[in-house]
Amino acid sequence: SGFRASDHVDWEFGTVDRRIFWEPEIYQLELERIFARTWLFVAHESQVEEVGSFVTTYMGEDSVIVARAADGAINVFLNSCPHRGNRVCFASSGQGRQFTCNYHGWAFGLDGNLKKMPKMGLYKSTPGFRMKDWGLRKARVASYKGLVFATFSEEAPSLDQWLGDFRWYLDAVLDPEDGGTEFLPGGATRSVMACNWKFPADNFVGDIYHALWTHLGGAEPTLGRHGGVIVDNNGSYQVSVNGHGWEFNDSFYGNAATMGDRELLRYMKSRQDAITARLGKFRADMWGSVASATIFPNFSFLPGYFTFRTFQPKGPLKTEIHAWTLVPKDMPDDIKDRFRRGSMRTFSPSGILEMDDGENWEFSTQANAGFVTRNQRLCYAMAPAGKLETQGLPGHVTAGQLSDANQRQFYRQWAVMMDAATWSDIPLDTPAVVQEAAE
Ligand code: FES
Ligand code: FE
Repeated sequence: SGFRASDHVDWEFGTVDRRIFWEPEIYQLELERIFARTWLFVAHESQVEEVGSFVTTYMGEDSVIVARAADGAINVFLNSCPHRGNRVCFASSGQGRQFTCNYHGWAFGLDGNLKKMPKMGLYKSTPGFRMKDWGLRKARVASYKGLVFATFSEEAPSLDQWLGDFRWYLDAVLDPEDGGTEFLPGGATRSVMACNWKFPADNFVGDIYHALWTHLGGAEPTLGRHGGVIVDNNGSYQVSVNGHGWEFNDSFYGNAATMGDRELLRYMKSRQDAITARLGKFRADMWGSVASATIFPNFSFLPGYFTFRTFQPKGPLKTEIHAWTLVPKDMPDDIKDRFRRGSMRTFSPSGILEMDDGENWEFSTQANAGFVTRNQRLCYAMAPAGKLETQGLPGHVTAGQLSDANQRQFYRQWAVMMDAATWSDIPLDTPAVVQEAAE
């Protein structure tokens, strides 16, 4: 077709062709070249702790089951029966010993292997039929500090290589305390937005700029009450690795302050020294700061609120958001509950801050119905602020959180992956600080 994604993104100056948020052909290529071959977040280990526990989710538009098997391994496999293709599991989560298809009763184990089916003898006597050829198609699985990822690509680099130096920053939210983290039990909030999946991912990867305008109404009353949450380019940064990005400042409980709960802030303050001793001041300040992050392509989180979410693509013009709240396991129950309520008040479908964002992404998408409109380009030209003073930080770090630096890296990664025929055509940032761990 002659399509070249790199013609659609100018990551040097910073422009993006609007058609990448609209065209069905580009969307189909995203499913193939991005979602079918990169690592995607599928679950937190705490959601599948017991043998037989499972959740269902999506990798791109592929429905998958994430299940803990008897050997302790977490398996991820397609949720579509190889017999006639029916969906195998209809629950969003649960506990069981096997998955039995509704249509003809084929039964699959917690590892996705085909175990038995009605009239099994008829297959056994079929020449060339082997049970092991007809299990549910398995993905590669790996986890990083509680977060489980999967990929359908055999060629993809290890998860550790893919996350690279971003792991050093991720530890600020995934490893602030002994005992690990968990998603608060009770499941995800799910909501649908009529927007392209890249707008929310791009917002979280580096767009604090919108908060100064979009969230003025929602955030100001709570900010005012607790005082002093400032967004500017002093003591703030953006970091990018392999298209993943995080913009943040050194406020320790900046985001958290907008939840309007003094007890929560008191608790966070009481943990500040311990977290600093564990991670050092720089990363301790990232724990609850004014910040947002995206792990490429569609897994995002907000420190402070500790909302973690996937932006599941449902066609070029529709996105389903699944959101959870992540907390240290050892946190006192009443504080966990305060985080639950705080993050619901702010970043749930009816939260005062999330409600602000939705229409912006929907209209940014829908405007491209106009032929002339979608042949214009969008502006990602805001340059990083001045010189970077903190040297030696891993990843591509730029000064100041008010810039389009991370978005340009996000769309650069997007374009490189869209144009690459194989993984060997996709260069990865070399980790500088974090030691390689075996997958
Ligand atoms: Fe699943 Fe026939 S489609 S058993
Ligand atoms: Fe927002």
